[in-house]
Amino acid sequence: MRRFISAVSTVALVVAVIVPSIAFSSAMYPKGKGNVANGKAIFENGKGSVPACTSCHGEDGNGNDDMGTPRIAGQFAVFLRKQLEDYATDKRKDETMFVMNDNAKGLSAQDRTDVSTYLESISPGSNGKMAFKGSDLKEIAANGGTVGLAHKGKTLVEWGAGARVQNPLSACRSCHGFNGRGAPPIYPRIGGQRYVYLVNQLKKWRDGTRSNDPMGQMQAIAKQMSDDDINNAAAYLTNASDYSMGNFRTPYDH
Ligand code: HEC
Ligand code: HEC
Repeated sequence: MRRFISAVSTVALVVAVIVPSIAFSSAMYPKGKGNVANGKAIFENGKGSVPACTSCHGEDGNGNDDMGTPRIAGQFAVFLRKQLEDYATDKRKDETMFVMNDNAKGLSAQDRTDVSTYLESISPGSNGKMAFKGSDLKEIAANGGTVGLAHKGKTLVEWGAGARVQNPLSACRSCHGFNGRGAPPIYPRIGGQRYVYLVNQLKKWRDGTRSNDPMGQMQAIAKQMSDDDINNAAAYLTNASDYSMGNFRTPYDH
């Protein structure tokens, strides 16, 4: 009996000590392992025929609504690298500015890993400091753009629309995590992404011009979305925080 009790208490001790460290250990989400210095040089200066990434994605990598470029700073390295591989092999086609396929092909596989690692490392949102707040929706509307309703988008992001008879929709959160903060390695961060880019991509998934998603997951989702659903979800996501009140860390902060 005593041996049993001590076995139980040993297990309890091990659980108490190990479980929290697993829950917050870096082993949960391996960060990019490329060469940060080479990645930074490519981002700022380009390489050979490939122009500096800053010329379209911004000095800070936060994207640009007028050009339709995404925020790439702070995105998961493993996801960025997948996208660059998909552009390099034409699995994904840039039909926004028709440049990313050539850009990706102009870099070596190691360069693509290095620039992805660097971009992940310049995340503007860590430890509760969200330096980048997403697109300025008032400005987009003032320039004649169509802007959705963030409060309606929040419902779709958090709960989906499972009960509607036509085109029932899963919650974005079920794959992309709280407020779309991402669930690496498969599910990218979509919270804090540029509004125009979000709308474009959802329409591309819906009409099949983007089809590099594993198991067609995003194409299935986007086909359930009306134009209003797309604008509303994007309006909420672009300014959605990675953090909930009172919990200033995410599962991948370390
Ligand atoms: C001439 C403009 C331009 C330059 C220069 C440029 N990009 Fe892009 N990039 C774009 C556009 C436009 C898109 C969106 C394309 C689409 O709709 O598929 C994009 C998309 C991307 C994506 C996909 C992001 C996502 O969330 O899926 C990555 C990654 C990326 N660029 C990385 C880079 C890197 C790294 C460089 C520098 C080596 C670079 N880009 C240079 C215009 C540019
Ligand atoms: C069943 C899981 C699943 C659900 C639910 C889901 N997504 Fe996705 N989503 C994915 C996957 C997987 C990818 C990555 C595709 C790839 O590798 O290119 C993705 C990518 C995206 C992208 C492209 C991001 C980028 O940087 O290029 C957008 C935008 C997006 N999702 C929006 C949404 C929205 C909005 C919802 C809710 C209406 C949603 N997703 C629900 C699985 C899902």
